[in-house]
Amino acid sequence: MDNTKLELSQKLYLETYGCQMNVADSEIVASVMRDSGYVITEDINEADIILVNTCSIRENAEQRVWGRLDVFKQIKKKKPELTVGVIGCMAERLKEKLIEEKKIIDLVVGPDAYRSLPELLETVESGQKAINVILSKEETYADISPVRLDKNGISAFISIMRGCNNMCSYCIVPYVRGGERSRNPQSIIAEAEDLFQKGYKEITLLGQNVDSYNWESENKNQPAGKQGETVKFAQLLEKVAKISPSLRIRFSTSHPKDMSDEVLFTMAMYTNICNHVHLPAQSGSTEILEKMKRGYSREWYIDRINAIRKILPDCAVSTDIMTGFSGETEENHKDTLSLMTFVNYDYAFMFKYSERPKTYASRHLKDDVTEEIKSKRLSEIIELQGSLSEKSKKADLGKVFEVLVEGTSKKSKDQLFGRNSQNKVVVFPKQDFKIGDYVFVKVTDCTSATLIGKGID
Ligand code: SAH
Ligand code: SF4
Ligand code: F3S
Repeated sequence: MDNTKLELSQKLYLETYGCQMNVADSEIVASVMRDSGYVITEDINEADIILVNTCSIRENAEQRVWGRLDVFKQIKKKKPELTVGVIGCMAERLKEKLIEEKKIIDLVVGPDAYRSLPELLETVESGQKAINVILSKEETYADISPVRLDKNGISAFISIMRGCNNMCSYCIVPYVRGGERSRNPQSIIAEAEDLFQKGYKEITLLGQNVDSYNWESENKNQPAGKQGETVKFAQLLEKVAKISPSLRIRFSTSHPKDMSDEVLFTMAMYTNICNHVHLPAQSGSTEILEKMKRGYSREWYIDRINAIRKILPDCAVSTDIMTGFSGETEENHKDTLSLMTFVNYDYAFMFKYSERPKTYASRHLKDDVTEEIKSKRLSEIIELQGSLSEKSKKADLGKVFEVLVEGTSKKSKDQLFGRNSQNKVVVFPKQDFKIGDYVFVKVTDCTSATLIGKGID
């Protein structure tokens, strides 16, 4: 593009909320927009278009976006030609209600309609509001090469599937993301290879339930010789791991009901597949898990943890816990605490149950645990996890880990930081090491959030 064209180009500012999948989607959006001539800016004040990629998982996730929309309104007051678009899960959930609620919104686009963004923006340009919230059974954006918005150039996300078929009773995701579909493995490998060639050293394969990844090529007009191949998650992992031993592979999220020993054996076979499983438990009580329609019991979950411990002795395990779900008693809550202690999680994301419209729980189960009790239980869970996380870090003192360097420490330019295979952040003196290096670091100390050590040759 020459300079005059650049000056004429509209500038896009993208803001992202929610899970890693939304982060990956914003990179798809950036790609679609760039291909039709828009330039990405990091300065909201020079934007011609603001797109906010939103999350609906809990009510407070949506509140945050409403707050941002008020800020955008102030910007638009000074710059009436500014276009404001809401995209992602909240766009899908609220549809035209968003435009009715906030007049400053010009554009509403759901997660499966990003290809239509340039066309919709033309509609907006002609003075109309534009909306596309059609969900798709096929869309995986397989052919779109994401524009990497992260700055480190070392680690990147790759979406391997979209949507979810599980219908956990509390969850909005199946409603805002549609049914589950797996992406063509060849396009996943090609994207990973391309990243590796560009110097990336770590990729994270993303899906709401990676263990149910399932690609059947016979339905997809594959060339002769390739017909009839079925690729499950374990095989996909292996294919990606084979790209290069110096490309690290991570993945998220594993689902306790579907996580197979085969996946664990594949992890054990390839040292570049990181020793970390994020296995959301949600609750330690079988009674609550049943109400949540999670598809497993406490015993089943423990069996999966035992399988991890047996097949991958050095594997870190993290989780998501939700407290205060419908009917949760003090005893159910204690079951969650005891499960956490049993598993010894390395870290956890912990939430209060937030009722979401349309879900099975909102239609059939009372949100009957008081806010006060939810808060009390959440603090107990957070406190317990605090001590487990500390224990997990103290257990690493004296050990040597291979760390992939991601950047310079925020606290000191003489220190680097990176992660070990177990996904723990490690900080150590810079010496002659640089970003993208694999460094063996001996752990000598730790804080509540990081391991501290020194690089060894
Ligand atoms: N697909 C992943 C979870 C995606 S949502 C899985 O099945 O594990 C991320 C986390 O948000 C969930 O694990 C759950 O702990 C939390 N969450 C989902 N719906 C919620 C709700 N209605 N209220 C509070 N937390 C919720
Ligand atoms: Fe939601 Fe359950 Fe699907 Fe996870 S598996 S996204 S919690 S419905
Ligand atoms: Fe939120 Fe949508 Fe992810 S609801 S958690 S951004 S799939």
